Amino acid sequence: MHLAVIGLSHRTAPVEIRERLSIPEQTMEDSLQQLRNEEQVLEASILSTCNRLEIYTLLRHPELGVSAVGSFLSRLSGLGVEQLSPHLFTYHHEEAVDHLLRVAAGLDSLVLGEGQILSQVKKMVRLGQEHRSVGPILNRLMNQAVSTGKRVRTETNLGTGAVSISSAAVELAQLKVGQARCLDQLVGLDEEQVAVVGAGRMSRLLLQHLQAKGCRGVVLLNRTVARAELMAADFPALPVQCRPITDLDHCLSTCSLVFTSTAAEEPIIDAERLHPLNRRSSLMLVDIGVPRNIAADVGDLAGVQRFDVDDLQEVVNRNQEARREMAQEAEALLAEESRLFLEWWDGLEAVPVLNRLRRQLEEIRESELQKALSRMGPDFSARERKVVEALSKGIINKILHPPVTHLRAPQSRQQRHQSMRTLAELFDLNEGSDES
Ligand SMILES: NC(=O)c1ccc[n+]([C@@H]2O[C@H](COP(=O)([O-])OP(=O)(O)OC[C@H]3O[C@@H](n4cnc5c(N)ncnc54)[C@H](OP(=O)(O)O)[C@@H]3O)[C@@H](O)[C@H]2O)c1
Repeated sequence: MHLAVIGLSHRTAPVEIRERLSIPEQTMEDSLQQLRNEEQVLEASILSTCNRLEIYTLLRHPELGVSAVGSFLSRLSGLGVEQLSPHLFTYHHEEAVDHLLRVAAGLDSLVLGEGQILSQVKKMVRLGQEHRSVGPILNRLMNQAVSTGKRVRTETNLGTGAVSISSAAVELAQLKVGQARCLDQLVGLDEEQVAVVGAGRMSRLLLQHLQAKGCRGVVLLNRTVARAELMAADFPALPVQCRPITDLDHCLSTCSLVFTSTAAEEPIIDAERLHPLNRRSSLMLVDIGVPRNIAADVGDLAGVQRFDVDDLQEVVNRNQEARREMAQEAEALLAEESRLFLEWWDGLEAVPVLNRLRRQLEEIRESELQKALSRMGPDFSARERKVVEALSKGIINKILHPPVTHLRAPQSRQQRHQSMRTLAELFDLNEGSDES
């Protein structure tokens, strides 16, 4: 058995590649099923977010398994293996464990320490369990990742400060509006006519940050207006006008700053839509959707500036240093959690030899019990038989307890292998008996 993660992220692939590999929740079951149908794949789990697609898997054979997952990703993206490979990373065993723990802690995020990734890891756990693509190993690893993410957020300073892709998007807008006024600094957004398209989790965070940055009001467009209205009610201090998404053209004509964060799978704004509109002289579009909500061709139109998630790097770099120092605090905690998982994994190595021992003792118990019972003859009541049987089982369990505890306890691989060999020699535990 071999643990690995194969995937891509904002560190290895631009948004135009990442958006080809985004798996919405509706098709997750099918993707997990495809992976489980691979002969090499024993367990699989998929983390799909705007910034990453990662496949955690338990494989029969490392190279064959990784290649099977690579082919799956190639089919999913419609890109040839040669085109996709330069954007993929693969980590094995210990590195795969460390990677997942870093991801759950927010240490691999574009915005270091952002909180949304932990909910996305929890979602991966839920979907893997619901669709039965994970077994005991990945289940244990995923749950360890969730508890690591929680610990980092409660036990270190990284969890403080509400950073997210949305906060970075608002900061980018502040920076770009500032630059348009020939100031190389973040400015307030009080002079902008602002719209937010979408009323999901990221839009809620956008409203929070817009309010904090002095925005005077927002037009909130959504397919389902009632959802937008519910959200607006949570911002009593920010004037929010809720409109149906069908008002998008009007909004693009009158607003100066438009954020898009919908889960639409195709762009909802492109040059063909924008071109005929009687727009203001300048329009800034900030798109945090992945797949992108705004087509790249709008950037060719005069007076239009378009930014997507990859452009957030510019603001992220500005304040990453302080957060990187905070991230140091989390490192010791990650090392501890990783060690716990790997010790548990190493303990699994002893399972076959312990199973053989249990089987051998069970055979002895069964045959000696039958001999004793036949000697007792018919005078022995059913109740007495049960008592003797329970006694024999109790003795076996007591005998097994010390070797089980010893072999599963944290220790070096070498020590464990030595103990396993000794046990096998002393009890003549022939490996062939495993097959039965
Ligand atoms: N969650 C994150 O941490 C995160 C981080 C960065 C970027 N993103 C990206 O941000 C976007 C929104 O994520 P979210 O977590 O806020 O999603 P969400 O909570 O699921 O909300 C989805 C929003 O998209 C709208 N929507 C869905 N399909 C649409 C369509 N075909 N046309 C127009 N509107 C549509 C929904 O409208 P209704 O209310 O009418 O259904 C809803 O307002 C996604 O592209 C995601 O990849 C998410």
